[in-house]
Amino acid sequence: MTADVSCLDQVEAALDAVKAQGCPAVRGVFHLAGVPQPLQPLAQLDISTLKAVLKPKVLGSWLLHRLLTETPLDFFVLFSSWSSLLGTVGQRIGSYSIANTFLDALAQHRQTLGQPALSINWGDWAEIGMRHRSVQAGYRLLPDEWTLHPQQGLEALSLLLPQQGQTAVLPVPWQQFLQLFPQTQSF
Ligand SMILES: NC(=O)c1ccc[n+]([C@@H]2O[C@H](COP(=O)([O-])OP(=O)(O)OC[C@H]3O[C@@H](n4cnc5c(N)ncnc54)[C@H](OP(=O)(O)O)[C@@H]3O)[C@@H](O)[C@H]2O)c1
Repeated sequence: MTADVSCLDQVEAALDAVKAQGCPAVRGVFHLAGVPQPLQPLAQLDISTLKAVLKPKVLGSWLLHRLLTETPLDFFVLFSSWSSLLGTVGQRIGSYSIANTFLDALAQHRQTLGQPALSINWGDWAEIGMRHRSVQAGYRLLPDEWTLHPQQGLEALSLLLPQQGQTAVLPVPWQQFLQLFPQTQSF
């Protein structure tokens, strides 16, 4: 069963299908849906790119939150990014940064409601995923040495899963980071 997580009808239909097929009840959520923003100065960001990047994270996570609000869950994990913590380094991924900030805020909101929530501000992953594809296309914001290998990411995830709130997994040497992005010294 696949669905556009930002589309109410499709998410409702997917949840109904899970029940109709006699699957075990939903006990947890991993929200990973995301669309990368092409690297571009904030001033050049157009409305269609903004919407495309915000929809899966903002609408998608909110719909899952609302539709499962009466469902007892063991976990509700949101795959956020370093970009919401460190701002838009170079101001080139503004919409992506905003989308991830929403995930962080949703985790806090769910906590205030007494519902499980964990937003993980992941560093860049190596070998797989959107950052890897971006590197293959010739674009990178952070050096390859500062990436997480998939096995490290999965090990971190298994350690973090019982936790609530917001946490970052960022294998970044901070002195070097500040040299590379001196404008972030004021964060
Ligand atoms: N890779 C990294 O270095 C990194 C770092 C920090 C955070 N993250 C976050 O971790 C998550 C996973 O990243 P990734 O690298 O695995 O990304 P990815 O390879 O681009 O995968 C993203 C997935 O989201 C799905 N998706 C997009 N819009 C959707 C929608 N409206 N409804 C349902 N599914 C939708 C895509 O499906 P389709 O293929 O069908 O479009 C794709 O399977 C993302 O939220 C990303 O922001 C990744």
